[in-house]
Amino acid sequence: MKNFIKLDTQNTSLVFFVAEDGRFSVVHYGKKVLGDNFLSESALEILNANSAVWNFSASSDDLYGQPTIVSSVGDGNAMEQLLRVENEDGSFVNRFVYDSHEFIEGGVTFDGLPGARKPLKTLVIRFVDEFAKLTLEQFYSVFENCDVIAVNQKITYTGDKSVKLNRMMSLQLDLFGTEYDCVSFHGAWCRERFRKETHISSGKFQVQSLSGTSSAMTNPFFILKDCYSGKNFAFNFVYTGNHSEIVESHFSEGNTRVLVGINDACFEWTLNNSESFVTPQAIMVCADNEKEITAQMHKFVINQIVDPYFAHKNRPVLVNNWEGTAFDFNAEKLVGIAKKAVEIGAELFVLDDGWFGKRDSDRCSLGDWFDNVEKLDGGLKNVADKIRALGLDFGIWVEPEMINEDSELFRSHPEYAMAVPGREPIRKRNQLMLDLVNPEVQQYLIDEIGDVIERSGAVYVKWDSNRFMSDMYSPTLNNMGEYYHKYILGLYRIIDALKKRFPTVLFESCASGGARFDLGLLYYMPQTWCSDMTEPWHRVHIQEGTLYGYPQSAIGAHVTAWSNNTIENRFNVVSLGAFGYELDLTKCSDEEIAIMKKQIEYYKKHRELLQFGQYVLLDSVFDDRKTSSWAIFGEDKSEAMVFIGETVELWNTATTKWNFTGFDDNAIYEMEVRSHFNVDEKFAYKGEVSGSVLNNCDLSFGNLFTQEQRSGLFTTNLTTRLIYFKKKA
Ligand code: GLA
Repeated sequence: MKNFIKLDTQNTSLVFFVAEDGRFSVVHYGKKVLGDNFLSESALEILNANSAVWNFSASSDDLYGQPTIVSSVGDGNAMEQLLRVENEDGSFVNRFVYDSHEFIEGGVTFDGLPGARKPLKTLVIRFVDEFAKLTLEQFYSVFENCDVIAVNQKITYTGDKSVKLNRMMSLQLDLFGTEYDCVSFHGAWCRERFRKETHISSGKFQVQSLSGTSSAMTNPFFILKDCYSGKNFAFNFVYTGNHSEIVESHFSEGNTRVLVGINDACFEWTLNNSESFVTPQAIMVCADNEKEITAQMHKFVINQIVDPYFAHKNRPVLVNNWEGTAFDFNAEKLVGIAKKAVEIGAELFVLDDGWFGKRDSDRCSLGDWFDNVEKLDGGLKNVADKIRALGLDFGIWVEPEMINEDSELFRSHPEYAMAVPGREPIRKRNQLMLDLVNPEVQQYLIDEIGDVIERSGAVYVKWDSNRFMSDMYSPTLNNMGEYYHKYILGLYRIIDALKKRFPTVLFESCASGGARFDLGLLYYMPQTWCSDMTEPWHRVHIQEGTLYGYPQSAIGAHVTAWSNNTIENRFNVVSLGAFGYELDLTKCSDEEIAIMKKQIEYYKKHRELLQFGQYVLLDSVFDDRKTSSWAIFGEDKSEAMVFIGETVELWNTATTKWNFTGFDDNAIYEMEVRSHFNVDEKFAYKGEVSGSVLNNCDLSFGNLFTQEQRSGLFTTNLTTRLIYFKKKA
């Protein structure tokens, strides 16, 4: 059965069929199908390789009607296309015919683009449109102990004129059937990645960003659930710019098409003779349910996306001064906070915005990456040294991609700013963006930011980006249709150069909170500030939404003073991430300092579990039960941390019911509720309980919250506990 191409992951198979006449179709994507010669002719007849096409005599119009992985304009199928090309003859018509395929060991790397690391093997499939002089290569990579498949495309023009790509997506997958639910993640500043569910049965649903960044509005990660088979598919995109995820159900074809790639809005890429365009990588996975999708995604991000140096490395407990001081600090103030940071047991001090140029507000100095010597009592190195002398590591905030018009940089290089000549640009947070398409600007940032890291000795860099694009133009480009993508390539080039120069520096990306939570940046920067929203009830939504597709070690999560909820509840909620405090510790009472000290002790004791254990969502905050719970399991379920949180609107309401899963049914666990400073120790109970009880019974946790309810502490909007379970030997 040489006409079948089967690509296996650990538990799934993706199977294609190539007919004698070159028709190419998707036969199966789902659980693993065993064997190599697994498909007989009769099997083929009963599969959805579109029996319609095989059983009825195909007219030329039908040729491309079956579920496939390549679609173009004018190929006989009227759904959304993988690619759109303006050919050298001015036509938009393409017909790609299967040419050949091969399996290669490992993968293919493409310069300048992030991509999944350590592929085991890669299936390369070649399609050719001879008439248009175009070759399309598709790459499908698989990984050890993982079900994710990474996909990208390379298109090459072999003529001697030129063609224009008007759309070039990274992944197409046609799925059988037309009833699907799409779970996607949407939001805004302080409300990132809220779960939304949309039923798709006819027509097109699109998740997209047009802001030039991956955005807080829509994350490229989404789940697609087959309403009939129950299969869950998930997709993501290893990219930081404009993206487009299209799901189109077509009743007449009986299929649902999925496309993932660069958004084609304002995209136009010219290919001259022998030139190629390589798309960023998209990824896909198929699993039984959402929990399994999440497990696959977490494993994949840690092992295939994050820099291996940091992938399994404990993240430091940090103290950041931003929420505590904003721009209003001097060296003495910073050292004062740092002393308290030592007292509570933090490991890293991060100096946020306001240390450079003459920046005392957000109106000036972005672009001027020289020290504010006055504010820093001599300079960055001086402050950093003083902080290091206390026993803390030092970290620094930068916002490299931006420029204020009130800056030395703008005065000497106005052409570095992203603006259309002669047109008044739009300012956001009083700033413009830098034209990262311009190689001179890229080099300026590589040098300047490199210098900041060097002279401060920072071991951690928070890379912020506080606006999105509005005035895309570069004097260095002939075709502005290339702008968005070339900006992102410029950004990757800068970060890559800095990463190579400072391989052990931990970078955390940030974009007005969590507006760039994407696999492209996570490839370079192992963690992302999840949101500026730190109030616990809101935060639970944002973290749960993020955790569907990204592991807790990638999530920057801090306790701040921005809430009237207790410091214990604030801690419990953010304890599952790369954790820290962001408040003015010099203003905290002795009691608060003592509480934070205990919290850090607790966090450090369980850090490995909290940052790298297997997260399992138990009870979604997005349903209407007013409860939220999650568990993080250690290897072999030998230990677990469970978070439970509930809101109660009425005093003396009925007890909440908790349902757990994932414990070892045959084990006995020692259980310990983390004690809270304001709650009687008798409620911080310890005990033994079997995994079977935990997995199978309704749990109420008795009077765990009673004291808080009675004392009025329940007036805050979320009351929480952490419960630690350890398997008995
Ligand atoms: C953004 C970030 C904050 C902080 C400020 C500094 O809003 O999300 O964490 O760094 O910028 O200006």
